[in-house]
Amino acid sequence: MSEKKRGNPYLTGNFAPVRTEDDFDLEVVGEIPEGLAGTLYRTGANPQFEPLDPNYHWFTGDGMVHAFRVGGGKVTYRNRYVRTPKWELEHQHGRSLFGGFNPMLSDPLAAGQDSGVANTNILFHAGRLLALEEGHMPFEVDRDTLAPLGYASEYAGRVTAHPKLDPKTGEMVWFGYGVGPHPFSTTMSYGVTDASGKVVQRTDFEAPYSAMVHDFLVTENYVLFPVMPLTGSLERAMKGLPGYAWEPGKPSYVGLMKRGEGVSAIRWFMTKPGYVFHPMNAREEGDRIIAEVCLYDAAPLFPLADGRPGARSGARLTRWEFDLTGATDQVKETAIDDLDSEFPRLDERFAGLPYRHGYYAADTTGAKSVKMNAIAHIDLKSGVRKVCTFEPGDQVSEPVFTPRSATAAEGEGWLTTVVWRAAENRSDLVILDASDVDRGPVALAKVPRRVPFGFHGNWVDA
Ligand SMILES: [Fe+2]
Repeated sequence: MSEKKRGNPYLTGNFAPVRTEDDFDLEVVGEIPEGLAGTLYRTGANPQFEPLDPNYHWFTGDGMVHAFRVGGGKVTYRNRYVRTPKWELEHQHGRSLFGGFNPMLSDPLAAGQDSGVANTNILFHAGRLLALEEGHMPFEVDRDTLAPLGYASEYAGRVTAHPKLDPKTGEMVWFGYGVGPHPFSTTMSYGVTDASGKVVQRTDFEAPYSAMVHDFLVTENYVLFPVMPLTGSLERAMKGLPGYAWEPGKPSYVGLMKRGEGVSAIRWFMTKPGYVFHPMNAREEGDRIIAEVCLYDAAPLFPLADGRPGARSGARLTRWEFDLTGATDQVKETAIDDLDSEFPRLDERFAGLPYRHGYYAADTTGAKSVKMNAIAHIDLKSGVRKVCTFEPGDQVSEPVFTPRSATAAEGEGWLTTVVWRAAENRSDLVILDASDVDRGPVALAKVPRRVPFGFHGNWVDA
């Protein structure tokens, strides 16, 4: 292994992949809440073999799903690679063949082959468990065995890893970016899957420029597409410069579209330079749309266009307001929190609707890295924030909300998160009371080894 690879931050510490697929019965400490029965699926990047790119990027590793099954006071754990065509091809050859964000490094055996890693999110819709990654179609896996069921080919192109489930209609609303002749094209898609799982719309439109559009916002009647200057460039990539780079000089746009009106009616708002990986939620209020987003001053994890490292930046929860009357095309931006945050979530029964409670992974150390050490609950009405901070060195993953019951009031329920215990180099599934996060875990289930840092997950009831 080269020195550079050894020092790659995404291959060391708890970013490093685990290369076993296991089934464990977990030791439970505390009491699993009665009525909490289902599975937390969490996914992340976990390269099967040593990456070809010495600058291997976290976003390009093979997907691995970690399933924590909770019920009857017990917790079991199962992890499996997402066996995409790329995973199978590399498995057959016993080595990496794809260059990740640097396709110039790919082996000739990879030419023309599907490069999907399905590593970013795992979501249950219309009876199907979908492993998602924004460069490819959703990849279905079996909800029990996690065995591969293959691409959902009816999507016919790239789909975001962050579709939104409409709690009123049961629809899955989604988009794709870079859907043109190459991944850095300016063409985007807007799409809808109905409650039965049928793709009923996929329509293309043009973004102001090519950017990594990681997530978007959906309300009851509107869709918003943030196009912010984490730009994509085929020309740069061909020269060996970063395919994706932070270009702070470019304006930031948010495209607003009324659902059902069609992409030709998209209105582009402008906002200050910055980057949003993840919004918490958005909703309509009179003639405004109001959203809370985790906003960075500068996109983290990506270099500048000339390849120099970008500035460190932590995201802060920020309110965006969009005027629907046509009076202004500027997004009103208000800081509403002073803690570095990522992976914002909510009680998803209120997705796209007026809501009060938000949750996120927080960094109380001010390190401006993606390593988060705490879970926060913010009451958006009162402004009260409660934080559960873990031991020094421990690192948390996205908090996923599960309601106490289908009829429970908003925010009454639990948060589940996977926490790496630095001192023991292993991980716990941690269960918090969502309305009392500062009281600490109500229960934890101990994994006998570590679960690498990952991206997103979702709870699926038993
Ligand atoms: Fe994400």
